[in-house]
Amino acid sequence: MDNLSPRLSYPEFDGARNLKESSIVAIGILGIGSAYPDRILTNHDLEKMVDTSDEWIRTRSGISERRICDADTATSHMACDAGRKAIEDAGLKPEDIDLIVVATFSPDTLIPSTACWVMAKLNIPNCAAFDINAACTGWIYGVSTALGLMQNGLARHALVIGADAITKFVDFQDRATCVLFGDGAGAAVLGEVEQGRGFLSETLGADGRMGPNLMIPGGGSARPISQEVLDNREAYVKMQGNEVFKFAVRIMCDSLCGALSKAGLAPADLDWVIPHQANIRIIEGAIKRLDIPRERFIVNIERFGNTSAASIGIAMDEAVRDGRIKRGDLVGLVAFGGGLTWGAAVVRY
Ligand SMILES: CC(C)(COP(=O)(O)OP(=O)(O)OC[C@H]1O[C@@H](n2cnc3c(N)ncnc32)[C@H](O)[C@@H]1OP(=O)(O)O)[C@@H](O)C(=O)NCCC(=O)NCCS
Repeated sequence: MDNLSPRLSYPEFDGARNLKESSIVAIGILGIGSAYPDRILTNHDLEKMVDTSDEWIRTRSGISERRICDADTATSHMACDAGRKAIEDAGLKPEDIDLIVVATFSPDTLIPSTACWVMAKLNIPNCAAFDINAACTGWIYGVSTALGLMQNGLARHALVIGADAITKFVDFQDRATCVLFGDGAGAAVLGEVEQGRGFLSETLGADGRMGPNLMIPGGGSARPISQEVLDNREAYVKMQGNEVFKFAVRIMCDSLCGALSKAGLAPADLDWVIPHQANIRIIEGAIKRLDIPRERFIVNIERFGNTSAASIGIAMDEAVRDGRIKRGDLVGLVAFGGGLTWGAAVVRY
C-alpha cells in the first residue's frame, strides 16, 4: 500500500508559515512595482476602428492613449513582472513571500488562479495563493484581504498584485467601452513596519444590485461559452457608463472619508490621493467635493486609461519612482468598480 501511494513530503517547508504567534502589528508597503505592455493604442488608432474621435475621448474621459497586450501576453505575464519588481524593491527573495493575492477579473484561466500561475512562474515555494475579483476596486480589496490574513498570523510577507488584461474582454466594435480601458499590473509587497507607519485604516463596500451596470454576461456558469454567446458578443464588457458615473463621485468621496475618519484623520491631512483612474471627470468631481488641492492627486489616466485592478498600483509606483511620494507621506487610496464595489485605504508610506 505504501509503495502504491507514497506519502508526499515537503522538504522545503520551513515551519515559519501559518503560525498564529507570528502575528505582526503594523503592516506597510515594503516594495512596489508595475508592468504594462509596450504596445500603445492611441485615440487616433481608435478613430480608425470605431466611430469616435480623439476630441470626444479626451474631453469625455481624459484619456489619450492606453497600453494593450499582444495575443501572447496574459494577465500573469504582467502580474509576474510587477511582482518581481516589488519583491526586489522590498529587498526580499521569492522564497520570503508566504501569501500571494492577485486581484483580477481577467484571469489567465478560470482554474488554476492567476495567483498560482504567478507563484509557479516566480518560483515562490510554500505559500498561500488565490485570486479575488472586485473588478476595479481589486487593489484595495486585495490589500485589505492580505492585511487581515497577516494580522491573524497567517503570513509575514504578502505579495498583492492588481492585474488585468482587460482589452482581451473589450469589444473593439463598441465605442462606448473600447476607448476607456487599458492593460497593466501593479504590485506591492506588504510586511511588518514600525508602529505608526503602514496601513492605518480601510473601508470596503459593494452593492450587488448595481452589478448589471458593468458586466461580462457570457463565459461564466450562467451563460457558458457557446456560439450564441459569441455571436451576441456577450463575452465582452457591457457597461451603462452614465449609471456608473452617477454613483462614482459620491462613493469615492464617501469611502475615502470613511477610511480617514476611522484613522482619526481628515482629507486635509493627506499628502497624496491616488484615485482609481476611470475618468478624469470623476476624479475632478472628487477633487471638488473632497476640497483637497488638485496637485495632491496622482493622475496618469491620460497615458493608461482605466487599467482596472492595476490602476492604483501603477499610479503609486510611478509617483514613488519619480520622487513625489516619499517614505512617511500619508497617502489615501480610493477606488470603485464593477460589482458594484468600492473601497479606500489610508497608508503612511
Ligand atoms: C462612458 C462615459 C465616458 C460616457 O460619457 P457620457 O458623457 O456619460 O456620454 P454618454 O454615455 O451620455 O453618451 C453621450 C453620447 O456620446 C456617444 N458616445 C459614446 N461613446 C462614444 C465614443 N467613444 N465616441 C463618440 N461618441 C460616443 C453616445 O452614443 C451618446 O450619443 P447620443 O447622445 O447620440 O446617444 C462616462 O459615462 C463614464 O466614464 N462613465 C463611467 C464609466 C466607468 O468609469 N467605468 C468603469 C468603472 S471602474
